[in-house]
Amino acid sequence: MSESQQNPAPPAGPEDRGFVGRSREMDLLRAALAEAKDGRGQVALLSGEPGIGKTRTAQELARYAETQGFRLLWGWCYDGEGAPPYWPWAGLFRTYVQQTEPDLLRGQIGPGIADIAGLVPEVGDKLGDVPEPTQVDPEQSRFRLFEAVSSFLKRAAADEPLLLVLDDIHWADEPSLLLLRFIARQIDDSRLMIVLTSREAEAAGNPTVTETLAQLSRLPAFRRHILGGLEIDDVRLFFRSEAGQDADADLAQSLLAHTEGNPFFLGEVIRLLASQGRHGQGELGLPQGVREVIGQRLRRLSDRCIQALTTASVVGRDFDFRMLGTVLEDFSEIDLLELLDEALEARLVEDTPGRSDRYQFTHALVQQTLSESLSASRKVRLHARIGEVLETLYGNRPENHAAELAHHFSQAAPVLGIEKLVHYALMAAHRRPGHCGQRGILSGHRTVEGHDHPGRRERLSTGDRRVPIQPPEDSGRPGHRRARRAVRGRGHGLGDAQARRNG
Ligand SMILES: Nc1ncnc2c1ncn2[C@@H]1O[C@H](COP(=O)(O)OP(=O)(O)OP(=O)(O)O)[C@@H](O)[C@H]1O
Ligand SMILES: [Mg+2]
Repeated sequence: MSESQQNPAPPAGPEDRGFVGRSREMDLLRAALAEAKDGRGQVALLSGEPGIGKTRTAQELARYAETQGFRLLWGWCYDGEGAPPYWPWAGLFRTYVQQTEPDLLRGQIGPGIADIAGLVPEVGDKLGDVPEPTQVDPEQSRFRLFEAVSSFLKRAAADEPLLLVLDDIHWADEPSLLLLRFIARQIDDSRLMIVLTSREAEAAGNPTVTETLAQLSRLPAFRRHILGGLEIDDVRLFFRSEAGQDADADLAQSLLAHTEGNPFFLGEVIRLLASQGRHGQGELGLPQGVREVIGQRLRRLSDRCIQALTTASVVGRDFDFRMLGTVLEDFSEIDLLELLDEALEARLVEDTPGRSDRYQFTHALVQQTLSESLSASRKVRLHARIGEVLETLYGNRPENHAAELAHHFSQAAPVLGIEKLVHYALMAAHRRPGHCGQRGILSGHRTVEGHDHPGRRERLSTGDRRVPIQPPEDSGRPGHRRARRAVRGRGHGLGDAQARRNG
């Protein structure tokens, strides 16, 4: 987990590319939002395979909700080790707390302030002088926290309607799911809509998630939307918006047949065709799975770009430029900027919105494809190196980054042992109410080989298959305009990278 993952901002969404199809689902979601606005709280689940558009649909609803006077609270769950309990909820409330005027916030939080501040430390920063919670047994303390959060939300929703999105709940920790159940049962007379997204196959493999969804589905205000592939007309619209030209009937049909209308897969295939200069018609001859398509796109990058991205993929879904530069000792700063520009041009990474000097992979599947191209032993050693670099970077204030450090040291345990893992895992856990202690943390530790999130369909399988990524024979690429322009024009300090990128 990286620093920005501890500070998730509501994703802005790719406004520049058109949202296509989903009119039935959007109509139902907008109708549910209207119900919620009238004081009849709603819960909606968007489920489907990886890349089918769950997050994007939630983003589109969020955009609409804001035009309807809703306030958006966005939280997402983390796929990996070391996330403290309630982490998605903490992320969801963080921005709200930071952006709400102190007196209003104090009134909305009410008597549960000590418990809420344990969950969202920013409450203390904002309101100061937060009392210590009285000590009670763990069960009571959990109930008190649930009550406090639920009352806070209901009071906040009385002031303005709220749309609360929890993205990727198949990765949620158990306490977060219990809190979700508690809240969902209490919102039927609140101006609150909860939207959950979940990968179907992964939810099915997690008993707590399955049980949570089963319980939620018994609520009258619950509705599940299973997202399937886009229809042929939507594929054509999608193609036009991605490629800037129309697809003829044969091409649209081939794309649909090949990708089953999965928008992520479609986007990758269209970009692969573009990179091969094959936006025209004819036999597509495309690789079968989404990972192979990503693999082919990666193989068009230069050798060193692949190396840099592969290392970055072990850091996480997003990564810091300075940190990556420190891990990649042999790369000069200018080299690295050029290589990242190459990846930006290929739309495999993008700038992290609102975060200077950070990049993120455009989709988890890009990161996963890269990271799975590494052998287990290489990955373990990279985690060890990254953990140690981060320790140095965070200096003597590692508390805010303990979960991220615990994640890397847990993956590095085969070479470094568990001392640092235990140290940071406990540090991370103690920052959250209802923490589960050392045993709980360590029992949740999975091995590298255990990271396997099979999708529903064979073709989108994220199984253990490795896609070898070799550099292309010709690794020369047309000029990396952004890097060259930036490096020419500005200072060379690593910390200035974002300014240069914006320059
Ligand atoms: N209806 C749509 N119109 C246009 N683009 C879409 C649509 N749905 C999804 N996309 C695009 O497809 C890509 C994958 O979508 P998204 O990330 O929402 O999938 P997801 O179901 O949330 O996947 P995951 O399970 O991996 O989180 C994104 O780039 C998104 O912008
Ligand atoms: Mg998603």
